[in-house]
Parts: sequence; structure tokens; C-alpha cells
Amino acid sequence: MDVLLGLQWGDEGKGKVVDVLAPQYDVVARFQGGPNAGHTLEFDGIKHVLHQIPSGIFRENILNIIGNGVVLDPVVLRKEIEGLHKFNIAFKKNLFISKKATIIIPTHKLLDAAYEKSKGDKKIGSTLKGIGPTYQDKIGRVALRVGDILAPDFEEKYNTLVEKHKTILSFYDFDISQLAELEKTFFDAVAFFRTLNLVDSEYEVNDYLASGKKVLAEGAQGSLLDIDFGSYPFVTSSSTMVAGACTGLGVSPSKIGDVFGIFKAYCTRVGSGPFPTELHDATGEAMRKEGNEFGSTTGRPRRCGWIDLPALKYSIMINGVTQLFMMKADVLNIFEEIKICTHYELPDGSKVDRLTYELNDDEVKPVYKTVPGWFTSLAEVNEYEKFPKELRDYVDFLEKELGVPIKMVSVGPDRKQTILR
Ligand code: GDP
Ligand code: IMO
Ligand code: MG
Repeated sequence: MDVLLGLQWGDEGKGKVVDVLAPQYDVVARFQGGPNAGHTLEFDGIKHVLHQIPSGIFRENILNIIGNGVVLDPVVLRKEIEGLHKFNIAFKKNLFISKKATIIIPTHKLLDAAYEKSKGDKKIGSTLKGIGPTYQDKIGRVALRVGDILAPDFEEKYNTLVEKHKTILSFYDFDISQLAELEKTFFDAVAFFRTLNLVDSEYEVNDYLASGKKVLAEGAQGSLLDIDFGSYPFVTSSSTMVAGACTGLGVSPSKIGDVFGIFKAYCTRVGSGPFPTELHDATGEAMRKEGNEFGSTTGRPRRCGWIDLPALKYSIMINGVTQLFMMKADVLNIFEEIKICTHYELPDGSKVDRLTYELNDDEVKPVYKTVPGWFTSLAEVNEYEKFPKELRDYVDFLEKELGVPIKMVSVGPDRKQTILR
């Protein structure tokens, strides 16, 4: 099983790359996260944003699995499936959902909003899809799982959990007047959910692997949003790193083959939290505009900044990345000069390139190496040899610093705008 992960703060372009790689695989599987993800695919002039459905869904002969580590919102899933109606996808055949995946219920979303509101200006900037409260219930051993919707006592279990949530919501003095309406939509979606292929997906994945078939695990979010290694507390609530693929699918670490690490040629972050190379000036604004950096799930403007090598090195280390893919190189076309953060300067003047515990709260200053930009369009570039020299130098420099080969460079959102090295 190969694993594909975002190495930054999410939105690196995972959806695009999974779509490009999918024909080499038999199975594409999501292992964590949920509707907080927004994975964009572009081909044949159409753009699709997937939230919970794995990005192999447009390929006819690929099985897509939503693994046990995912938190699933039936309402969002139904909308996604209905939105793909015109593509005649055989969902019954091509989409399997783990019975052990956790279900997001309407009050999880209300709790997400209540917790965020109570944090004031310390808010995480959650996507408000109910991710944190649902994982909290999973770990607290009170959550509902997909398999529960098939049991006769599902409503009873649901009501028990909702009562608990209502107590918490009243403590936060949170308005729940919309709950009845949300519940109606939820139960309609649950009825639809029951018609899908609900399985013990750990058997599916391991059977496929045992018969020599190839599985690609599709990460959501990014390593810097990981619950353990991200910029806590400004993180998501799941294990976004390679280990999450093992627990989120039921696959042994010994079965992991390649680990593909995806990064943008610069950095973005949506939501709160530290971002050492963030640009608050016209350069950042230009990056946002050129890269169309607005959230695929929430539409929020993404914060933008130069590439951050200490952060990338950290993500590569904790994941054992074997191949790097650099995305959105074309967005840097507009700059005469490009900056690369190689170190951080601490308040005492010392320089470090490690993401220590203290670093999270320290006001660090990025130390930059400035390199010439290619300052030209990449629209006509269809092979690596045709890259402008400055871009080749940029790739070579990053590769040398990061110590892992950069095997793919993406120069546009379309499937075809992908250059192998
Ligand atoms: P994901 O969450 O990692 O799948 O990434 P998102 O889909 O949230 O965000 C990536 C955005 O960049 C999407 O709008 C993609 O269509 C777009 N994109 C992906 N690769 C490239 C690229 O090489 N160049 C440009 N300009 N856009 C890209
Ligand atoms: P993909 O898979 C970018 C961010 C949110 C917030 C924090 C916690 O498309 O890369 P949550 O809703 O999980 O409680 O939010 O994490 N976040 C993402 N940022 N891409 C994502 O997913 C994200 N999923 C969550 O903005 O800062
Ligand atoms: Mg995204």
C-alpha cells in the first residue's frame, strides 16, 4: 500500500495527484478526516471538489474505500453522491464504506460552533463540519458508527448521544432552534446511507493486498495539522500522518510501500495558528490571487507565504517520505525573485531548522535565501527538459535540502498539467 500525504497545512493538491496516479492502483482509500477536506480534481474542462468520497471515484475500475478512521457526515455524503449523478458512477460497486467509520450527527456541528464561539479570538478556525466533537466522542467511546445505522436500536443510541450533547450545548448557552430541521435532513440521509455498500473494509483492503493488488491511501489535511505533530492546538483532530493510514484502514506498517509527500511550491494555511513565512503584504495578496487560494470547503481566503524548508523537513521525517511531488509551480511565475525559508531566527538571535515544542509559541523570524524566479508562463511546458533554468534550479535546490527526490512537478490544475521527472 502506498500512502499519499499533504506535507503542509492541507490543500497541497492531493486530490489532483490521486486522480493522476489512480490508474496505477486498484483501490483508493481515505483513512482519516471527513467533510473538512476539499479535494479538487480537474479534467475535460470540469472541476470537481470531493469532500468525503475518495479521489479515485471518476475512474471506472477502481474501488474507493472510506476507511474506519474517517468521520462521515451522511448529509454531506448524500449531497456529494447526488452531485455526481450525471457521471453515472456505479456507487454500489465502486464505493465501499467501513462499518467502523464514525458518524457525524447534527449536534456535533452545533458543538463545533459552540466551542469555537467560546474561544473568541483564540478560535481554531475550524471548518465547522463537526470534526473535533465527533473524534472526541469516538475517543470517549460514545460515538455512533456506520454499522449502527443498520441496527434496530439506532434511534435509541442516537437519542442518548443527542441528550448528552444538548446538556453541553445548554452549558454554552448555544441556540439549538435549528436542530429539528437538521435532524430531519439527517435521518433522510441515513435512510439513503443504508442503501450503500457498508462493509468491514479492513478485510477488503487486506484481501486486495494479499492478492497482489495495489492500494493508494489518500490523506486528508496535512502533516502540520496533525493532532500530535501539528501546531497544536491549531490542528485538526486526526492523525494526518502515515501512521494514520495504518490505524485508519487496518493495515500493518509492514505493508506500507511508497510514501508520496505533496507540497506546494510555496505555503498556504486556512484557519488560525502559527505560519512563520506568512506574507501580509502585496506579495502575499498576489500569491493568493494567482493561486486562487480560497478554501475548497469553506471559501475562506487562504493565508499565503514562501516555502518553509524546516517545516517540510519535519513532515518528511515523521512520515518517512520516499517521493516528493511539488504542486502549483505555475503560481510562482509572477515573481522576479523567490524566497526560500531555510531556518528560523529565534528571539535570542539563534538560528534553528527544527520544529521544537517551544517554536509553536515563539515569535520566529524566517531566514530566507533569495533566488531568481523564472518569471515566465509554464503553459507550454510539457516536459521537464523544457522547464526554465530558474525553475530547474529551484527544484534541484529543494531536492538537495530535503534529501528526497522530487518526482513530479505540477504546473496547473488539470490532470494533464503534470510533469514527471
Ligand atoms: P487538496 O485538499 O490537497 O486536494 O487541495 P485543494 O483541492 O483544496 O486545493 C488545491 C487547489 O489548487 C485546487 O483548486 C486545485 O485545482 C489547484 N491545483 C492543483 N494543482 C495545481 C497546480 O499545479 N497549479 C495550479 N495553478 N493549481 C493547482
Ligand atoms: P484538505 O484535505 C486545509 C484546517 C481548518 C482549521 C483546522 C481545524 O482539503 O487539505 P477542523 O474542521 O478539522 O476542525 O479544522 O484545520 N483544515 C484544513 N485546512 N485543508 C484541509 O483539508 C483542512 N481540514 C481542516 O481550516 O484551521
Ligand atoms: Mg483541500
